[in-house]
Parts: sequence; structure tokens; C-alpha cells
Amino acid sequence: MAIYIPEDKLAEIRNTANITDIISERVVLKKAGKDHVGLCPFHSEKTPSFTVSAVKQIYHCFGCGAGGDVFSFLMKYDGIGFSEAVQSLARRYGIDLPERNMSASQRKVASQRQQLFDLNKQVMSYFISQLSGRSSGQKVRAYLEKRGFHQEIITQFGVGFAPDGWDNLVRFFRKLNVSQALAEKTGLVVPRKNTGLYDRFRNRVMFPIFDVSNQIIGFGGRVLDDSKPKYLNSPETPIYNKSRSLYGAHAAKNKSRETGSVYIVEGYFDLLALHQHGITNTVATLGTSLTAEHISALRRGFAQKAFLVFDSDEAGLKAARRSISLFMNAAMDAAVIVLPKGYDPDSFIFEFGREAFEKASETAIGMVEFLIESSIQSNGLSMEGKVRVISDLQQPLLEIKDSVARSIYIKYLAERLSVNETAIIEKIKSGEKRFKQAQPNNWLKHNDDKQSLSENDLLIESEMIRVEKQIVSMMLKSPEILPEIKKRRVLDYFSDKRLIEIAKIVLKHPIYGDEDLPGLMNHIESTDHKNMIASLVIDDECRDLNNCEQLLSQFINGIERRQSSLLSQIKSAQESNNDELLFELLRKKQEQLINR
Ligand code: CTP
Ligand code: MN
Repeated sequence: MAIYIPEDKLAEIRNTANITDIISERVVLKKAGKDHVGLCPFHSEKTPSFTVSAVKQIYHCFGCGAGGDVFSFLMKYDGIGFSEAVQSLARRYGIDLPERNMSASQRKVASQRQQLFDLNKQVMSYFISQLSGRSSGQKVRAYLEKRGFHQEIITQFGVGFAPDGWDNLVRFFRKLNVSQALAEKTGLVVPRKNTGLYDRFRNRVMFPIFDVSNQIIGFGGRVLDDSKPKYLNSPETPIYNKSRSLYGAHAAKNKSRETGSVYIVEGYFDLLALHQHGITNTVATLGTSLTAEHISALRRGFAQKAFLVFDSDEAGLKAARRSISLFMNAAMDAAVIVLPKGYDPDSFIFEFGREAFEKASETAIGMVEFLIESSIQSNGLSMEGKVRVISDLQQPLLEIKDSVARSIYIKYLAERLSVNETAIIEKIKSGEKRFKQAQPNNWLKHNDDKQSLSENDLLIESEMIRVEKQIVSMMLKSPEILPEIKKRRVLDYFSDKRLIEIAKIVLKHPIYGDEDLPGLMNHIESTDHKNMIASLVIDDECRDLNNCEQLLSQFINGIERRQSSLLSQIKSAQESNNDELLFELLRKKQEQLINR
């Protein structure tokens, strides 16, 4: 849905926003010459091919082809629309957008997410004020103090208190004139059976959950005694996606980047406890299992190494089994820390202190090793035991896509069990067959063969597009060639529709310097086209076009040669009465005409 944003405001945002800052808040970037590089957030990769150019204010991934400007990055990364991307940048840089240009209904949709963020912030303040309040707040403060938490950490994480009663928050919303619909969207109040709303969180310590931009996306609440459920969390809302969010991520990022590692714990209090003891590179999963999205966000934006900290072997085993392939496939090193029986990170660090915790992390072992050792521990090293160990490891090993890593682990397992390596490989392979059968779609994908053009045609076609790309790249980099392009009607010879459209826009809005590029991007709606432009501008292959005119001539001559050869082929097909061939050739001719 499009919202009218005045041209001058767009220009202001474009001139103020810095793509390197915005992206580096989400992806770890390293300087490489004039540009920055990092692991692409849009496809899975192990070596960085994601490039951000501060000079040109664009990004481009050489691996998957994603690319564009700061707006299209935010749209793609945050999964939002153009106007929301503009609004979020405007907010971030303190640029006022005139809202009166939007109709009431437009404003409603566009700002619903923002309203929810704002509302959550007010709710946090409300809970904080309840915690510092005289009456009921007192017992909660005592509870937190008894658990050892300092005021600084409570303040830093905005911990508060939802008082007992069914409608404290309902009345708070009413006072703010919040509509029932919006109130419900926060997930903090729940509709009653008949009519009205009631508070979801009652008599609980409240933890606001922040996203990496420090906006509050939801809440968690703990009871003050032994009642059930011990914890309650916000449901998913338009701004709270559980498979993407990690508690404490906003506070863990810097230290994680500094140290290159991040601790993953399970609970709110575990996280607060570690932070209070100076281990601030910690995030929490809040009782859900780690998703691929969590892991890739951590790998790209936080650190290369993860320590999973678990209360018990059991929990650790479960989590390791579930997430091992996710870590492997994201190329994230993961090690498991198992705390002594009966301790979780919170109780451990309060009792033994920071150094003991850090010592424990030095003895952390890799996930596969952890699985192997745990299995040996429960099955023993008798003959039957070994068979069971291998069988336990079959599935996890199978899920490791990297064949080098896989064979290293197989070797380790073979040595650990003193079993012949090939026997283990056999066993793993026997599982692979079943694995393949179970997932036919995945495994068949690469042999579907639906190319109808002959190989030769394909070669010519891809070669043509390559040259067309070079030409557009040249048009973007050397505006002095544009009159020649017009004069020789070069675009008439193009075959790729997308390139034709882009080239036409470039003719209208020439780039005389890097500072013109963001403006050009603005004339382009399709993200697909933006991708293409970014790749053409940033691609080194097209940079050295010292002889532009020569390229043009070669291109046009080549086409003309092919056209005349097509004509003569058609002629001879007619003469030899080869109708089938004639039909095919005419179809090709037709295609050329359509593409014009
Ligand atoms: N959790 C949850 N719902 C529950 C139980 C747990 O969402 N009914 C989540 C919470 O985020 C909790 C985490 O799982 O913090 C770990 O649970 P648990 O180990 O039971 O609690 P602790 O974090 O140790 O909490 P406390 O120290 O306050 O007992
Ligand atoms: Mn605990």
C-alpha cells in the first residue's frame, strides 16, 4: 500500500541515512577497501559476498544477487513495505514526516506497528511505576532483592510489576483512549467471553522484550510464588515474532561482537544474572527451541561462536539434537556448557561467581562431541553400547551437509569407539536412503529438467544478456555514452525486458556521480530491478569498459549478423519444405520482434 511521502522528505531521508550504519546494526560488516563486506542475510553462506558501498549507498550480494538501497534493504530484511521503511528511517534520524498527507485509513494501517511499539513503551513505564509503588510493589522489590538483583540491572532491563486484579491494564488503556481493537493487538489484554477485556498478566514480575533497535515487542511475566504457570509470555502480535526474537539481544550485541562469542541461556533471570556479573554477551531463548532464524541472526549480527548453557544433561541433549544441524548449516561454531546438577546459569553464577562460569565455558565441548560423549555415557562401550551410540549419532551426522565436517566427525567417532570408519560410513549411508525417501521433494529438485531451448540457444542467449548487462552497467558508470545509446537505438536490440526497463530509466535520469544513484533508485519500484542496478553498479567485471563504443558496435553487429542468419535459415527452410524447422524459426523471429 503506497503512502504519499513528499519528494523533498524522501531526499532528506536519503541524504541523512547511512546504509552502512543501518546494515551494520543487523549484519556484522568488515571494512574491505572503500566498501564493507559481511555474510549475506538473505542466503546462507560461509564466506562473505555481501557488499555494502557507503559511497554509492547501495548493497549487493555477489552470492544471491540481492541488492538495492537502504530502503529496499529494510523492506527485505524487516519484511516491511516501502512506506514503513521510510517511516522507520525518518524516525531513526529524527526527520518529521507530514502525516496530514495520508488519509485516515492509510495512517491506521501504516502506523499500527508503530502504535503497538509506542503502547508497549507506555505499558513498560506503567509496570515500572507499579514496581516502585508503595504498596504491592514493595513485595516484588523484596523478591528481586532476595534473588540478588541490583537496582541497575532492573532499571537497565525495564523490569516492572503487573499488579494483581483483572483490569488494571484495561483501565490504563482506557485512560489513554486506546481502542479495544488496538488494545487486543498488544496481546496484553484478552477479550472476555461476553464483552470487554481482562488483563493477561496479573500479579507478575514483568520483563519487557526488546528488539535489536530497542523497541519493545512483547512481555514476559513470572509469578512471585509457586503458582502455575510460572511464566507467561505475550502471544505473537504484528510486532512480535517468536521465531525471530531473542530476549536480551539488544544488550548483548556489542559485547558479542567484541568477544566473537555469545552465550545462549534459557530464561529471563538467567540472562539478568549473567549480565549483572558482567557476562553481557548473553541472549535467552525463553523456553522455545532455537530456530534457524535465531541462529542466522546471531551468526550474522553477533558472533561466530555460540555457547549453549544448559541446566542439565537432559535439556542440553535435547537442544543439541534439535539445533545441531542448524548451527552447522549456518557455519556457526557451537559448544555446550552443562552446569552441575541442580544449577541453572542464574543460581550457578550467584553461588560461584563469574570466574567459575568462565572456567566452565573453557571446558565446553563441541556439539557433536557432546552428543557422542553423552551417548557413550548412557550406553557404555560394550559391543551393544557401541552399536547404540552409532545409531544415536546417525541422524545428527546425516543432517550435516558439509561433507568435510561430516567425515571429520565420523573419524572422531570411529576412533572413540575403536570401530572401523567404513563401517560407520556404511551405517550412516543406510540412513541416508531412508532420509531421501522421506523428503522426495528436496532431493529431486536438482534433476528436474525443463529446458526447452537447445544448449546452443541458451549459450547465445546468456551471452547476449551478459553483454546487455555490460552495456547498462556502462550507461550507469559513463553517462557520456548515453547520447550514443540513443542515437544508435541500442535498446531496440536488447532481449532482456528487465534490462530494457532499467536502461530506459537510466536514459531519463543519468548518473553523473555517485550522489545521483540514490535518486535513480527512487524512480524504481520493483525490488528486483533495484537488485539488478545494485549489481551492475557494484560489479567489478563491468568496471573496466575502456572502449564503450567498441562494445556497442560489437553488440549491434552481432545481433544484425544473427538476424540475417535467421532470415537466411528461414528462407532455406521454406525452400526445403521443412515445416517443423520453419515453424521453430518463425517463432524465434517473433520473439525478437516482441522483445523490441
Ligand atoms: N518458560 C516459559 N513458560 C513456562 C516455563 C518456562 O516461557 N511455563 C521459559 C521462561 O522464559 C523461563 C525459561 O523458560 O525463563 C526457563 O524456565 P525455567 O528453567 O523453568 O525457569 P527459570 O528461568 O529458571 O526461572 P526461575 O529462576 O525464576 O525459576
Ligand atoms: Mn532459574
